[in-house]
Amino acid sequence: MTDTLDASLAVVILAAGQGTRMRSALPKVLHRIGGRPLVGHVLDTARDLAPAHVLVVVRHERDLVAEAVTGISPEVVVVDQDEVPGTGRAVEMALAAVPDFDGDVLVLSGDVPLLDADTLLGLVRDHRASHAAVTLLSAVVDDPTGYGRVIRAVDGTVERIVEQKDASAAEAAVPEINAGVYVFQASPLRAHLGRVGTTNAQGEKYLTDVVGLARADGLAVSASVVADVSVTLGVNDRAQLAEAGRLLNTRTVRRWQLEGATIQDPATTWIDVTATLAPDVTVLPNTHVLRATTVASGAVIGPDTTLEDCEVGENATVRRADATLAVIGAGATVGPFAYLRPGTVLKDGGKIGTFVETKNSTIGEASKVPHLSYIGDTTIGRGVNLGAGAITANYDDIAKHRTEIGDEVHSGSHNVFVAPVRIGDGAKTGAGAVIRKDVPPGALSLSVAPQRNVEGWVENHRSGTAAADAAARARSAQEQGDGAQEEHG
Ligand code: UD1
Ligand code: CA
Repeated sequence: MTDTLDASLAVVILAAGQGTRMRSALPKVLHRIGGRPLVGHVLDTARDLAPAHVLVVVRHERDLVAEAVTGISPEVVVVDQDEVPGTGRAVEMALAAVPDFDGDVLVLSGDVPLLDADTLLGLVRDHRASHAAVTLLSAVVDDPTGYGRVIRAVDGTVERIVEQKDASAAEAAVPEINAGVYVFQASPLRAHLGRVGTTNAQGEKYLTDVVGLARADGLAVSASVVADVSVTLGVNDRAQLAEAGRLLNTRTVRRWQLEGATIQDPATTWIDVTATLAPDVTVLPNTHVLRATTVASGAVIGPDTTLEDCEVGENATVRRADATLAVIGAGATVGPFAYLRPGTVLKDGGKIGTFVETKNSTIGEASKVPHLSYIGDTTIGRGVNLGAGAITANYDDIAKHRTEIGDEVHSGSHNVFVAPVRIGDGAKTGAGAVIRKDVPPGALSLSVAPQRNVEGWVENHRSGTAAADAAARARSAQEQGDGAQEEHG
């Protein structure tokens, strides 16, 4: 990483291709891993190099790609590629956008997302030290299928690159691949691109042909072979997309482990690159920590939990929960089996328990919604306990309304709060209440009619049924018991 601007470095990111092998309506470079589009990872890395220019070449679905790119990095220059296809044409058009630039041009692919800034800085350093016209990044891989092969002369120097589709059987057997990442001196690159043709299997202007042209002009070409081949993985199909996502996640999980998080099962823990975990967080298996989620020290999240754009406070516990845009306070507990929808704020020491759904609601300090409830558009004060089965009826078929529950309120089981409605501080409600009118502070609110037992109804109206027989047995046992009591009393 570097902070000072490298005035003699321009980065070109290729993102104009369709990505046919993805078989997708979405442009390939917008497919996501680790919570970011592929091209977003490349943009992040490019920014770490502090180049004078970042140029992103677009064509297929250009508006979608351009919008995503400038959304992530507003300072980049978007360059439109014309109808001439190929990576060579893409770079040629990018250079035309910076006609006076005469430094080093680092070319990256929007579909090679795992390259890190250190590897690239090393490549630029090697390039500058060797004074080569081109320095390319290569890797020796087990399965080179689909990549361009690096063809070396007998003395070991790089002679040219041949694409998979143009390769002879002998060339296809070469295990050293072109990672699609290069540093070029700008002026020979401009000259060579003007000479690249399209007579190849794909009818495209290949950037890779520049290597052979430079060599033929007697210029030096050098290749840096990466030690960790995983960084060069190119995403061309969905299988490679999943593989790149897994590799990135492994890297992210490891980073947080080294920062002090306990992550019990890296294979089933998925952490977006935009999420953060404090030291002494514990993440249990099958947990997704997504987007801008932050988890504070001492919190335990999982198992089986998804957090998207959430803030989890110190020492909170979140088990078997699904939460989006929710704030979970320090020492609060959530789950098992809870659904926190956007706008949920659970204050310190509060509880959202089992089979509870919340939305756009604040649950005050140390307040509890422990069981089987729906809490929507509600503000709950502190020290409140809602009985099992509390429902805030926030929607009257026309509009949404709020329920306001004060401090230290205890509600009976199975209450319905028909919004808009307010429950005053310290109030209590009876079991089964349907609260349609405001309850003043300190009141006991009962809405269920007093219970009335009609004695003998089953024997009178349902005679001959098993229930009537059971009732008759119970009555005669009761009568005998009463008789015996009278004898002894
Ligand atoms: C390319 C290289 C290959 C290398 C591989 C590494 C060429 C000719 N081949 O092959 O040697 O091993 O990358 O991953 O360069 N793009 C454009 N404009 C275009 C065509 C493509 O901007 O006209 C962009 C794509 O969006 C993509 C990148 O360039 O981000 C690479 O294109 P792709 O078609 O995937 O090239 P590969 O066949 O993988
Ligand atoms: Ca590719």
